[in-house]
Amino acid sequence: MSLKSVVITGANRGIGLEFVRQLLAAKPAPQHLIATSRQDTNEELDKLRAKHSSLHVLKLEIKNFDSYPQFVQQVEQIVGADGVDTLINNAGILINKDLESVTADQMIENFEVNTVSPLMLTKAFLPLLKVSSATRKTAVVNITSMIGSIEDNTSGGLYPYRTSKTALNMVSKCLAVDLKPSAIKVIAVHPGWVQTDMGGPNAKITTETSVSNMINTIKSVNDSTLGDFVPSSVGHKSAVINITSTLGLMSQSGGGLYPYRTSKAALNMVSKCLSVDLKAVKILVVSLHPGWVRTRMGGPKADIDVLTSVSNMLSTIRGINESVSGKAISYDGNVLSF
Ligand SMILES: NC(=O)c1ccc[n+]([C@@H]2O[C@H](COP(=O)([O-])OP(=O)(O)OC[C@H]3O[C@@H](n4cnc5c(N)ncnc54)[C@H](OP(=O)(O)O)[C@@H]3O)[C@@H](O)[C@H]2O)c1
Repeated sequence: MSLKSVVITGANRGIGLEFVRQLLAAKPAPQHLIATSRQDTNEELDKLRAKHSSLHVLKLEIKNFDSYPQFVQQVEQIVGADGVDTLINNAGILINKDLESVTADQMIENFEVNTVSPLMLTKAFLPLLKVSSATRKTAVVNITSMIGSIEDNTSGGLYPYRTSKTALNMVSKCLAVDLKPSAIKVIAVHPGWVQTDMGGPNAKITTETSVSNMINTIKSVNDSTLGDFVPSSVGHKSAVINITSTLGLMSQSGGGLYPYRTSKAALNMVSKCLSVDLKAVKILVVSLHPGWVRTRMGGPKADIDVLTSVSNMLSTIRGINESVSGKAISYDGNVLSF
């Protein structure tokens, strides 16, 4: 995806705001970046706007469908003949109601924001998306959630949110089929469980990690991913994970433990060499530090339990991409210095 002319909804906080930050810092940055917010002012967006003339903040209440034609007109005035190559339908709400408490109004409200708006906004943007797709790769990116996966649902509940994202996945699939002749690609991307107001403080990954992975995913969209439900960062499908230890890092002070330390330092070099040798066949290789874990090896005084270590590592593994291949990363996703 060229990411030259980008529109993103719900950009005043959370994942949307992080998209704005990272896209502005990218090289090259978009020539036109249109971020929407429901508020007249937003401190973060205002600061970024003062520094970047390519950023335009437009007001949009996505439930106000009647305002779409005027909104698209405003965007058209900004992008001109460039059209829009990337529409990121990010704005969303999570109404958390179980079987006992859910009401019809809550179902409809969650659907209106999470399902109907992305569809109607995409429709409204078709002329500008087609201007772009005539000359360059163009995509609609719907931010979905794993919670909308029927296959993955083992816990029930969350009726309004869950079903709105399941329906958004079907919207994405239908759009992908319908827009194929216009060379507009459509994907539904899961951002991971992310530390935002919606994800909460216990979420597994930061907005920085989520968005940098999603940007890589968006860039690597091709015909085989059309309409697909794409977990965060699936530019590559295969990876070798070598479980290492921070005790094998030169950057870590401390003597002793010669056999163990040197074996893990050498393992890190094995990972690095493999990452170079396997790059051509798109296999990622990382050295993954599990944390200091309360196992027989880690002992009872270790920092974390096995559940914390493994659940974090699984989340980190799901999020790895080319940028960390050959590196050592910690269970919580932090890149470590060799
Ligand atoms: N965080 C996670 O772990 C997670 C996981 C899976 C999927 N997602 C998806 O990722 C997307 C972003 O989530 P987030 O975590 O960044 O959530 P967030 O921090 O709660 O931010 C939601 C954004 O959507 C905007 N929004 C909500 N209703 C709107 C409306 N009617 N009109 C215009 N804007 C509206 C909000 O604007 P206001 O400030 O004006 O309310 C805000 O900018 C959502 O689609 C969410 O479902 C998140």
